[in-house]
Order: sequence, then structure tokens, then C-alpha cells
Amino acid sequence: MVCEFHVTEIGHSPLDVVAWHGNYSPYKYDLRTYSPVGAILFDHPDPSIFTVLTAPTEEAGTANVDFVIFPPRWLVAEHTFRPPWYHRNIMSEFMGLIYGQYDAKEEGFVPGGMSLHNMMLPHGPDSMGFEKATSVELTPQKLDKTMAFMFETRYPQQLTEFAANLESLQDNYLDCWTGLDRKFDGNPSPK
Ligand SMILES: [Fe+2]
Repeated sequence: MVCEFHVTEIGHSPLDVVAWHGNYSPYKYDLRTYSPVGAILFDHPDPSIFTVLTAPTEEAGTANVDFVIFPPRWLVAEHTFRPPWYHRNIMSEFMGLIYGQYDAKEEGFVPGGMSLHNMMLPHGPDSMGFEKATSVELTPQKLDKTMAFMFETRYPQQLTEFAANLESLQDNYLDCWTGLDRKFDGNPSPK
């Protein structure tokens, strides 16, 4: 897959308007100044803990849309699988990587790339990410020089025809989980 950045110059800004509709207004925020919080002993909190902006609903645990980021941060938890765990949930997750590397995808998720996991679709770290996270010594590590973002919403997302037919669509995305072995045999307390 070939990825390129493109540059264009225009004589005005899209924000150059006379008035705004309703109470909408543009806002520019440097995501690098956001201070993340996380586990400082063990376990892995729900990634929603990195929410920067939210449009809540009356139902606890769901949002119309959350804007979440994954900025540089320290990983220090002990006895813990540190990347996001395998899960499926009611929220549709549209993710993008701005720069650096995302800790749950060792390959294939490049800066400028996007992924969509719709509601109730199981997902989690790729095989390489799993192997690394389960074999590496759990010393304090800094995930540095990285910035990923996610819009998560309680509504299912649909692709536009344009997006569905992009040449850069990754047809073999499923392969990132190839090689993951079943680790659980149904016995909650193996000897
Ligand atoms: Fe997720």
C-alpha cells in the first residue's frame, strides 16, 4: 500500500465565515496538552478514560459520540495485559492514527490510516501486539511520539460509496488476528 501526504494552498480558511449556525463555533485545541490518566498499579481501564469531548445520553455508559485520544503516556501496570483488551461493545469505534504507532496494532495501521469497528464487532490487538504484550518484561515504558484518536458512538456507522471503493481499502485486515491461539478452555480456574 502506498501512502502519500498531499499539500494544497487556498486563499482562505474554511473557517472564514460571517456567522455560525446555532451555538456551533470552531475551536482549536492542541491535543498534546491533554493530560491522560491510567492504571498506576494493575489492570486496564476502559479506553473511554481518554475522552476529551463527549456528547452524553441519558443512558449511563453510552454516548451519542465521544472524542477520544491516545496520546504519549507511561505504561506502568504490573501483572496486566497492557494493550486494550479483546472486546465487543455497543459503541461503534472509528479510529485514526495521526502520527507514531498505536500499541494495539504493530503493523498495518499507519499514520493517516483509519479503521472502523462497528457496534458488537469483536476486535482487539493484532497477533504481534498480543505476543509482544504477553512476553515482554513489564518495566515502566513510555509510549512516545504517538497520537491516535477515536470517535465512538452508540449509533452504527455506514460507509460512503466513496470510502467503500477506495483503492487503499485494506482487504486483508482480518489477517492481523491470524495466529492467535485459543487460550481459554472454559475452565475459569485452571490448575
Ligand atoms: Fe474497541
